[in-house]
Amino acid sequence: MSPEIEKLADKLLLKIRRRPGKTVSLTNLGQTLKAEPDELRSALILLKELGYKIRKQKNTIKFVAPADSLTDIEIGYQLKTRVIGRKIYAYRSVKSTNDIAAGMAQSGQPEGTIVTAEEQTRGRGRLGRSWHSPPGCGIYVSIILRPRFKPEMAPGLAVMTALALADTISEVSKGEIKIKWPNDILIGGRKVAGILTELSAEKKRVEYVVIGVGVNVNHKTDDFPSELSSIATSLRIANRRKVGRVHLLKRFLENFEKEYRRYRKGQLAASRRKIRRYSSLLGSYVRLRFGNKTVEGIAVDIDHTGALIIEKDSHRRTITSGEVTVVKDRG
Ligand code: BTN
Repeated sequence: MSPEIEKLADKLLLKIRRRPGKTVSLTNLGQTLKAEPDELRSALILLKELGYKIRKQKNTIKFVAPADSLTDIEIGYQLKTRVIGRKIYAYRSVKSTNDIAAGMAQSGQPEGTIVTAEEQTRGRGRLGRSWHSPPGCGIYVSIILRPRFKPEMAPGLAVMTALALADTISEVSKGEIKIKWPNDILIGGRKVAGILTELSAEKKRVEYVVIGVGVNVNHKTDDFPSELSSIATSLRIANRRKVGRVHLLKRFLENFEKEYRRYRKGQLAASRRKIRRYSSLLGSYVRLRFGNKTVEGIAVDIDHTGALIIEKDSHRRTITSGEVTVVKDRG
């Protein structure tokens, strides 16, 4: 499909999206949008391919139902945020939304700009891992932030994002939702979402942060490669029904904006009770790896900066990053 038809489809959608159920004349639309009948026809085919339900009768059309496609129009439609998602770049297929967002941040895109994709061919996870990103079933989104705080405050953004994500997932999903510090979201002990935070900073100033979020939404069991099948899950698998990706993403952006506002005021101080409740680690004996060091102890708390506090032989240590494994559950 040509870029001109894609643009026309966007404009057409803007015209009919506002008034579901209303019959609109194609002749009038052609005049307003300055389009020939065959161009309008191609634009309608494209919208139907994207999953929009549009009824055509003789020379009229009627918007029936939106698509669950991550398009800029659907994500932006009645989105209740002020900054986050005010600029949306929605792609069909990219290597990694984090890479595109970082490039955009370097070229001056403002705070709150988001990049989404229906598919990632080289989705990246933490610690150099990859993030499996098949088309049409997940949410792959990156958010550009330009916080005016010191680089030391940046690590807590991962925990803050995990909180917004856990709250969002709790709105649509049953099952026990947990945060595995710092930022994996688990349902029934299996990973359903992950967060990759990447920072560009000088000594005293953060230039930008890209927060990348991947959620397994409508994956079926066989959408996961065999090495993930015993450790990953999706909202569809956990709930035995499909979950609307557009709705979920919009609610996440709204919850994210709320938590980000709080974070800038007092880091995680106001959210600690909730974070503790979501934590899958507190009370367990854990082993932490960071660089080539390993420490062990009981995970006793998460502080207002997002750091994990572990205790061994009455001695407490504050850990700001690392890979955790549970050695012994709290029982
Ligand atoms: C992890 O749990 O290891 C983090 C996964 C982060 C995946 C998301 S999907 C959108 C964004 N783009 C990427 O390449 N990665 C993040």
